Amino acid sequence: MSQSASSETWTVQRILEWTTAHLKKHGSDTPRLDAEILLAHARHCRRLDLYTRFDDVLTEDERTTMRDLVQRRAKHEPVAYLVGRREFYGLPFRVTSDVLIPRPDTETLVMELLEALKPTTEPRLLDIGTGSGCIAITAAKQRPDARVTAIDRSEAALAVARDNAETLGVSDRVEFLHGDLFAPLRASGSNAASFDAVASTPPYIREDEFDGLQPDVRLHEPRIALVAGGDGLDVARRLIAESPEFLKPGGRLMLEIAPEQAEAVRTLLETQGSFDEVRLIKDLNRDLRVASARKRP
Ligand SMILES: C[S@@+](CC[C@H](N)C(=O)[O-])C[C@H]1O[C@@H](n2cnc3c(N)ncnc32)[C@H](O)[C@@H]1O
Repeated sequence: MSQSASSETWTVQRILEWTTAHLKKHGSDTPRLDAEILLAHARHCRRLDLYTRFDDVLTEDERTTMRDLVQRRAKHEPVAYLVGRREFYGLPFRVTSDVLIPRPDTETLVMELLEALKPTTEPRLLDIGTGSGCIAITAAKQRPDARVTAIDRSEAALAVARDNAETLGVSDRVEFLHGDLFAPLRASGSNAASFDAVASTPPYIREDEFDGLQPDVRLHEPRIALVAGGDGLDVARRLIAESPEFLKPGGRLMLEIAPEQAEAVRTLLETQGSFDEVRLIKDLNRDLRVASARKRP
């Protein structure tokens, strides 16, 4: 996509073909999809609309925008950050490089959470490590009678989450607090066992795994959202130890986990002393992805 090429030559079809080949060469696993999302973003249209406009010639502005997006994508910047948006559970979330990009794996946790909360009216939910707010906000959308508290150690992430809650119309029922795990609750004196569920997608990558992560993740997503000590369980271990203090009797802890941590997490939950009904749940790829346990009634 050289700047000197004649503008007539850059039709939608040609730019899609060129970008797909370029991104493939630079290591994208989904070059055609990336090309379509970026071009739709540059043209302010839906992906579908590109197909009815194959012969349109790009404007100068569109070409400039596309050139910048493609250069950044070729350096492994995730598409979600480039377009500032990612869909989660059918809802559009704003994302920036301050938040982890919501993953489809996490939808499994949300499904389990909603199922567990079904018998409870006006449930109270605590989301620890909220990032973009995807778990807290989705739960609030799905359960209009719920009240949600969402905590994160990153102020920058909380700003994005608050914005999402506002845009998605749940800011009156989702409270955002800044701090380390349960510390903001203790600081406000509300450390009574008042939650029907505590949900978390904690960081769970091992320190020694970090260098081997895909460049999209390693170079661009916040390290604080990813890495949790030598065995990846530093945060999960604390959540399992401390959450019973904040759960009502019969309330549930739900953690997203890496499949290879499943047995270690099961053991932590079973030996903590406060939990029963410990279960490991598979995601749509049939990987063990969620650990769930009930605080003894
Ligand atoms: C894996 S991300 C999950 C984000 C979001 N819940 C999701 O599923 O997309 C983990 C989040 O936990 C936050 N975090 C990490 N350590 C924390 C701690 N000790 N206390 C509170 N939040 C923490 C990070 O800032 C990050 O936003």
